[in-house]
Amino acid sequence: MEETKVTTTKLIFAILVLYASITCTHAADTISANQILKYNETLVSPQKTFELGFFSPPNSTNHYLGIWYKKISTGTVVWVANRNTPLTDTTVELTLTFQGVLILRNATTGNVLWSSVNVNSSATTVRNPIAQLLDNGNFIIYEQGDVINQDDLDDPTWQSFDFLTDTLLPGMKKGRNFVTGIERHYTAWKSKDDPASGEFSASIDTRGYPQLIQTKGQEITYRVGPWNGLRFSGAPHLKPNPIYNFTFVINEREIYYQYSLINASVFTRLVLQPDGHLERLLWVDSTQEWVLYLTPEIDRCDQYTLCGPYAACNIAQSPVCECLKGFEPTSPDQWKVADWSRGCRRRTPLDCEPGEGFNKYTNIKLPDTQWSWYNLTMTLAECENMCKSNCSCVAYTNTNISGAGSGCLLWFDELLDVRAFGGTGDTLYIRMPPSELESTDSTENRKSSGPRKRIQVIVPVASMVLVILISLFLFYHFNRKKQHQQDASDEDLELPLFSLSTLHKATNNFSMDNKLGEGGFGPVYKGLLENKLEIAVKRLAKTSTQGLREFKNEVISISKLQHRNLVKLLGCCIEGGEKMLIYEYMPNKGLDSFIFDKTQSKLLDWPTRYHIIDGIARGLLYLHQDSRLRIIHRDLKVSNILLDADMNPKISDFGMARTFKANQIEANTNRVVGTYGYMAPEYAGQGIFSIKSDVYSFGVLVLEIVCGEKNRGFLHKEHSNNLIGHAWRLHNEGSSLQLVSKCLEESVNVSQVLRSIHVGLLCVQRQPEDRPAMTSVIMMLGSDGQLPTPKKPGFYIGKAKKDSPESSSSYGTCSKNELTITMLNGR
Ligand SMILES: *[C@@H]1O[C@H](CO)[C@@H](O)[C@H](O)[C@H]1NC(C)=O
Ligand SMILES: *[C@@H]1O[C@H](CO)[C@@H](O)[C@H](O)[C@H]1NC(C)=O
Ligand SMILES: *[C@@H]1O[C@H](CO)[C@@H](O)[C@H](O)[C@H]1NC(C)=O
Ligand SMILES: *[C@@H]1O[C@H](CO)[C@@H](O)[C@H](O)[C@H]1NC(C)=O
Ligand SMILES: *[C@@H]1O[C@H](CO)[C@@H](O)[C@H](O)[C@H]1NC(C)=O
Ligand SMILES: *[C@@H]1O[C@H](CO)[C@@H](O)[C@H](O)[C@H]1NC(C)=O
Ligand SMILES: *[C@@H]1O[C@H](CO)[C@@H](O)[C@H](O)[C@H]1NC(C)=O
Ligand SMILES: *[C@@H]1O[C@H](CO)[C@@H](O)[C@H](O)[C@H]1NC(C)=O
Ligand SMILES: *[C@@H]1O[C@H](CO)[C@@H](O)[C@H](O)[C@H]1NC(C)=O
Repeated sequence: MEETKVTTTKLIFAILVLYASITCTHAADTISANQILKYNETLVSPQKTFELGFFSPPNSTNHYLGIWYKKISTGTVVWVANRNTPLTDTTVELTLTFQGVLILRNATTGNVLWSSVNVNSSATTVRNPIAQLLDNGNFIIYEQGDVINQDDLDDPTWQSFDFLTDTLLPGMKKGRNFVTGIERHYTAWKSKDDPASGEFSASIDTRGYPQLIQTKGQEITYRVGPWNGLRFSGAPHLKPNPIYNFTFVINEREIYYQYSLINASVFTRLVLQPDGHLERLLWVDSTQEWVLYLTPEIDRCDQYTLCGPYAACNIAQSPVCECLKGFEPTSPDQWKVADWSRGCRRRTPLDCEPGEGFNKYTNIKLPDTQWSWYNLTMTLAECENMCKSNCSCVAYTNTNISGAGSGCLLWFDELLDVRAFGGTGDTLYIRMPPSELESTDSTENRKSSGPRKRIQVIVPVASMVLVILISLFLFYHFNRKKQHQQDASDEDLELPLFSLSTLHKATNNFSMDNKLGEGGFGPVYKGLLENKLEIAVKRLAKTSTQGLREFKNEVISISKLQHRNLVKLLGCCIEGGEKMLIYEYMPNKGLDSFIFDKTQSKLLDWPTRYHIIDGIARGLLYLHQDSRLRIIHRDLKVSNILLDADMNPKISDFGMARTFKANQIEANTNRVVGTYGYMAPEYAGQGIFSIKSDVYSFGVLVLEIVCGEKNRGFLHKEHSNNLIGHAWRLHNEGSSLQLVSKCLEESVNVSQVLRSIHVGLLCVQRQPEDRPAMTSVIMMLGSDGQLPTPKKPGFYIGKAKKDSPESSSSYGTCSKNELTITMLNGR
């Protein structure tokens, strides 16, 4: 079998000529405490494979501490210590302190220019430290015993392998260690003359089932995909070969990718080039050059989510994007002109009815696993059952395809970034309504659930379905009639109808005891259905004429949305002049009842708050970008975030929401609705709303969650800024931590808090175009890359009246104290 593909003609990597002369070498491979390594001196590993010292890239006047191959004359640098803090001249020296910290200092002044100390390593005390350059290219600090102990080398107190530059060497781990908290990813050089961190990074995304991704700034550019037990789903080129073997490890302690040399006398490295290309290079001794080896041929279909949701990219087809079987273009007009951004949607929507099953899709790259769940020991049959029993589960597959197949991977969101491969892809089972099920592969699909079981389910459910169908018929009938009388723009609703008598019974005749709160359009009640399901009923006041439009708007928008961070609408009731919305009940009520309450706020520790921030971001991203409609919420605020029993946040209240066309950027309204304190300046002032006005409100929310104070109503003793102003001032003084709510002090994770505040400030920037989109927000919250510097925030100072401190949350569109305002803009 011909497995190696060596392109000998292509010399790719720019040759780095080292400034430092190799004539004067410090022949040792170690440096002990207080010993000094001067500019012209180097350390050389025992077998003379690697060398550590100072260098200067060609065409650069800066100097760096780095590691390069000793045996390869071109001086290929594989690691740089101070990539982002270059040395401007050569009056420098490297030393190891008695505490076991490497320090790069100015030889004249003694000023420290770089050090190996990281947040955690100061805790370790080493009595007799030594630093050594090993033959695998790792530079380590460990405690020196009488004999050199292999354990010391395997578990050093510090190692350069934990801080990757742009190169993955054999034996290096790329990924996350949950014990030490270290996340190892590599970032390209800015240019071939400048080792500073560039735009491109390669890392393992561990948000769902781990997957390899490449990013540019905060955006994913290419998804190598999840590991399927043999290879990465999106990288069929990576296969067994005579040069190196590779492994991917997932356990409670760590998740990483690593490769090892099969023949240790070969040189190979994986390097992320400044232009974003990931290259596997192999040193060819006879020609004295690096050549490409098993490098992925990145094609158009590798562009992340090129085809949008539920579509597959097939490079062999023209055009490349096609909807998955059972799906159709969301916007046929755009699809025809090769604008695939909105992707595809189901031909027949899912209802979570009992006859649903799964269709098998073969030879594909598995979808984005950011919003997935996994268990490595379940069987495929258990996996199918689990997916089937959870209405938000859209697809499943094995995590390990080798042998008989094992493990379970479930998807809970739109399926993104799928591509079709000729013969080497993976298999995915996608949830389908009964009418779309294929019977062909019944042997495989049906075995697990079994026909007998199915009948048992169907009998009791059938009568229910009948009831629903009749109700729907009546509802449509009613709706049609109504449409003739009113504007005909409404769409048909696809939503269960509840009878008035059911709701009377469930809410104890709308008793005061069941009342949860009061919204602008009427009261909200807690109810209990006969099947013990707890519900929340929002009852539109009969007299409210203004509310009718919002009511319909809410029903239409939300009935189409499904996401775990959006409150779920279970049905509605239109009967006898009553209009009601029925939601899932949220036992923990609104976020406002926690964060603005002195005693309750103690229950929300930092990890929970961070989880809430993340959930809100995901819900909002879904509204803005991932749902079938693009939706601007327009009234995002703390009291519109409800919490379920596990403190998962759910965005509620879509009474003000507006749907957008895919290519529409902003809209203008004469009727400004929203809540003071959360409204972006361009919206409050000129009525211009866009996804970026929601981002602004999100930013305010984040700051409120961190600080536990309301933006509006926050008046500082010394200066009368609002919360945003105060946060901005503290950020610029470098004392953002002062913002953190007193009750959080013990649970706080400093870097997450600072990151959240920073992201919050980016979201409330004055110019909408400066604010990040929600995809970037999620990336920024979830990584530890560098963040852009926020510009001045925008404020809208409404009528400066202090809100009363108490505020009741509700399923209602507004609460009494923190009033959702509606004002006519006189234009
Ligand atoms: C390094 O060595 C070169 C050649 O021996 C010499 O010219 C240069 O001054 C030395 N630089 C330092 C900083 O010692
Ligand atoms: C140095 O810069 C010059 C001008 O930009 C360029 O022509 C030359 O190729 C560069 N040399 C190296 C080694 O990169
Ligand atoms: C070291 O300090 C001297 C004196 O301030 C300065 O001239 C020199 O540039 C410094 N060197 C480095 C590498 O920072
Ligand atoms: C520091 O260590 C703790 C626990 O060992 C870990 O949770 C945290 O993520 C670490 N932080 C960094 C920056 O490595
Ligand atoms: C890779 O090959 C090396 C050397 O043959 C061997 O020691 C190592 O166990 C192999 N690793 C894997 C994951 O197969
Ligand atoms: C390893 O590679 C070297 C040089 O290519 C070769 O001479 C040697 O025989 C190889 N060893 C093995 C065990 O394949
Ligand atoms: C995975 O599934 C198995 C079998 O259903 C179960 O015993 C195990 O606890 C699960 N593991 C996790 C981490 O959920
Ligand atoms: C369905 O799965 C989601 C995501 O894992 C989970 O939050 C939810 O509780 C599950 N629902 C049921 C009914 O198991
Ligand atoms: C995948 O399954 C094979 C065969 O059952 C097993 O040998 C292997 O260890 C599994 N791999 C992982 C990563 O679980």
